[in-house]
Amino acid sequence: MNSFNLTRDNFKSRIAQSFSRAAKGYDQEASLQKQVANQLLEFLPKQLSSNPSDTVILDLGTGTGYAIPYLTQLYPDAHLLGVDVAEGMLKVNASQNGHLLIDYICADAESLPFVDASVDLIVSSLAIQWCRDYPAFFAECKRVLKPQGQLYISTLGPRSLWQLHEAWLKVDEIQHVNRFEALETLVSYSDGLTLFLKETEVNKQAYPNLQQLLKSLKSIGASVVEHRETTGLGGRHRLAQLEKVYQSFVHGDGSLPLTYQVFYLAWCKNDR
Ligand SMILES: C[S@@+](CC[C@H](N)C(=O)[O-])C[C@H]1O[C@@H](n2cnc3c(N)ncnc32)[C@H](O)[C@@H]1O
Repeated sequence: MNSFNLTRDNFKSRIAQSFSRAAKGYDQEASLQKQVANQLLEFLPKQLSSNPSDTVILDLGTGTGYAIPYLTQLYPDAHLLGVDVAEGMLKVNASQNGHLLIDYICADAESLPFVDASVDLIVSSLAIQWCRDYPAFFAECKRVLKPQGQLYISTLGPRSLWQLHEAWLKVDEIQHVNRFEALETLVSYSDGLTLFLKETEVNKQAYPNLQQLLKSLKSIGASVVEHRETTGLGGRHRLAQLEKVYQSFVHGDGSLPLTYQVFYLAWCKNDR
């Protein structure tokens, strides 16, 4: 299997394709994503200080729109924008939430197509771990937020998927699993924004078998590995080896554990 160095845009288009392909089955596989989104939404302010009818909210990396019904209920008069790099995700989202007044925009979180100081609230659940240029992402959020605007994100930390990472290391030397930034590193990129929420959670999922475990990774996009042209799930022979090695983590009931380290973070844009 060949490995290539990829440009950032090539990686982005693979992310977009991977999520678009996964879009139709995403909701069935997305139990972790739903738990994390629920927790992130709990942190949101029940009221925003802006005039409700002038309020603009971005659901960034909106996916199939799990957060949309909650956001429209919480902020009924706001103008809600669903942004995602994967057109396939936006199509499923629109088919499920088309009755709600939302605008959909296919765009990259690192290059937002909005004018300066035009957004009151950015909410982004389990999407920005696919950004490759965090300073660009935070600079864009800072640019489009109005003064006192807020950014709420959930994202994955470096302890995520550690069992899979360790198991693959025993099979071959290829990188099959993406690695994620440490909290301090992530926060260090958010210059000019004031951090006011910083929570870490260890979320343990269990799967009946390796096939289900790997399928769930596809829905979170984790089968796309940076610096590799092929997906990270491996051929049949290596998957059999992986299954054997993964038995060292197996639970008493036979299920396979996979840990996600989740960060919940929120920032406010200062007046200047
Ligand atoms: C795991 S899904 C989460 C979807 C949704 N927020 C949820 O909680 O169910 C991640 C989403 O982020 C999108 N995404 C990944 N990288 C992105 C980027 N750079 N800009 C915008 N969206 C991105 C993917 O296409 C995908 O729809």
